[in-house]
Amino acid sequence: MLTMEKEVRKVKADVSALSFYYDKTLALKSISMPVHENSVIGIIGPSGCGKSTFLRCFNRMNDILPRVRYEGSITIDGKNILDRNLDVVDLRRDVGMVFQKSNPFPKSIFENVSYGLKINGIKDKAFIADKVEQSLKGAALWDEVKDRLPQSAFTLSGGQQQRLCIARALAIEPQILLLDEPASALDPIATAKIEELIHELKKKYTIIIVTHNMQQAARVSDYTAFFMMGELVEYDATVKIFTNPSKKITEDYVTGRFG
Ligand SMILES: Nc1ncnc2c1ncn2[C@@H]1O[C@H](COP(=O)(O)OP(=O)(O)O)[C@@H](O)[C@H]1O
Ligand SMILES: [Mg+2]
Repeated sequence: MLTMEKEVRKVKADVSALSFYYDKTLALKSISMPVHENSVIGIIGPSGCGKSTFLRCFNRMNDILPRVRYEGSITIDGKNILDRNLDVVDLRRDVGMVFQKSNPFPKSIFENVSYGLKINGIKDKAFIADKVEQSLKGAALWDEVKDRLPQSAFTLSGGQQQRLCIARALAIEPQILLLDEPASALDPIATAKIEELIHELKKKYTIIIVTHNMQQAARVSDYTAFFMMGELVEYDATVKIFTNPSKKITEDYVTGRFG
């Protein structure tokens, strides 16, 4: 048996007995797991198993639907973010999200990144320009766009647009980044760039990534959570999940016996 990585990482978020309902449909069933700081947490599992729903709990994005209900807690820095009285605008500043399909605003490259700063009331032009540069550098896009910042974001390739969305999320200095299949619409080269970027980003951020691509989960994540039908089947160090999982069903899934 492989020994698990013994390095102790700080817990950034702690999920405890989390259940989630879309009206009467129970989509997440009493999930408990720690999310370690400066780590990449990969979420894998068959379509419809609750990966996106789980991810959207971390920034309360599920709340935009009517008749949803949470049970249990997600504690971030000692605070239960599922608390009804929590300011979700504040939360979303700390927990950034990037979606499967890149969704730049119909604005310039520069404005896409500066947008979040402006709506947070920042007016200092020099500060904004510096932050835009830092964010684009952080998203490994700066060199490709520095001479065309006023151009429309739609002039960028798909992979560049996705990195622009990551830069936009970084500009407001989140602590946790949620990525929902961020590379599934991209070609292999653009995908490799995103994966490389995720590796860099975890030095500063805690990253939770949903992927239906198991090779990708194996490549980018430090910990992997395997979900099935709203349940967390197994959660462990990625190397353990992919080489010596505790449960037969996990092994069947990661070896591609069902999908
Ligand atoms: N807006 C919604 N309203 C009702 N049920 C939903 C909604 N979104 C997802 N679901 C249901 O919740 C379950 C989990 O979905 P989802 O989180 O999207 O899975 P995954 O991302 O793993 O494919 C599925 O059964 C799905 O049908
Ligand atoms: Mg999904």
